[in-house]
Amino acid sequence: MEKPNGIQDYDKLLRSLYRAIVFLSSFVVILALGAIYYALAGSPFPSDQPAAAVQNEAPARRPRPAADERIEGGIHLATGLRVAEGFETVRANCTGCHSGRLIAQNRATRDGWQEMIRWMQRTQGLWQLGRNEPVILDYLATNYAPEEIGRRANLDVEAIEWYILGE
Ligand code: HEC
Repeated sequence: MEKPNGIQDYDKLLRSLYRAIVFLSSFVVILALGAIYYALAGSPFPSDQPAAAVQNEAPARRPRPAADERIEGGIHLATGLRVAEGFETVRANCTGCHSGRLIAQNRATRDGWQEMIRWMQRTQGLWQLGRNEPVILDYLATNYAPEEIGRRANLDVEAIEWYILGE
């Protein structure tokens, strides 16, 4: 083995080793910076995990609007239902799927109300009302009974003196 050449080869080897180490350590620095960023700011890559977590947290952080418990003219404003005996039971069982206003705009006899409840139980997933059912039916039949008063009579076509427009 010739010495001069050997030294030159050795120098070359050292130099290329040194370059390789500098080259590789730049990767280490980049990775380290990435790790620090990740630790401080979270993943920079879009992932549905943190987004979902934020979505789940959002409602909890939002202040809940206070339930509007005002009553005007005997009508509970938030549900549109008349405040009377059985109101709380009806509110608890009947306003989860639809507004109480849907109830308040209907009129029926006790049997009619029971039929509506059976229909919802058969087709809409309304639960068995058990001991609450008579309470609910009493409330409905009392407060939302068929209204005959104030309704005009059916038109008696024969008795009307029709007039011709424009005469
Ligand atoms: C499990 C869900 C659910 C519950 C609880 C519920 N309903 Fe309903 N109800 C429905 C659905 C669904 C409809 C149909 C709504 C529509 O047509 O938009 C409906 C319709 C109605 C209607 C309108 C019927 C018509 O002919 O237009 C009335 C009145 C009514 N419900 C009364 C009640 C009463 C009283 C209670 C409490 C005993 C109650 N609902 C509880 C699901 C429910």
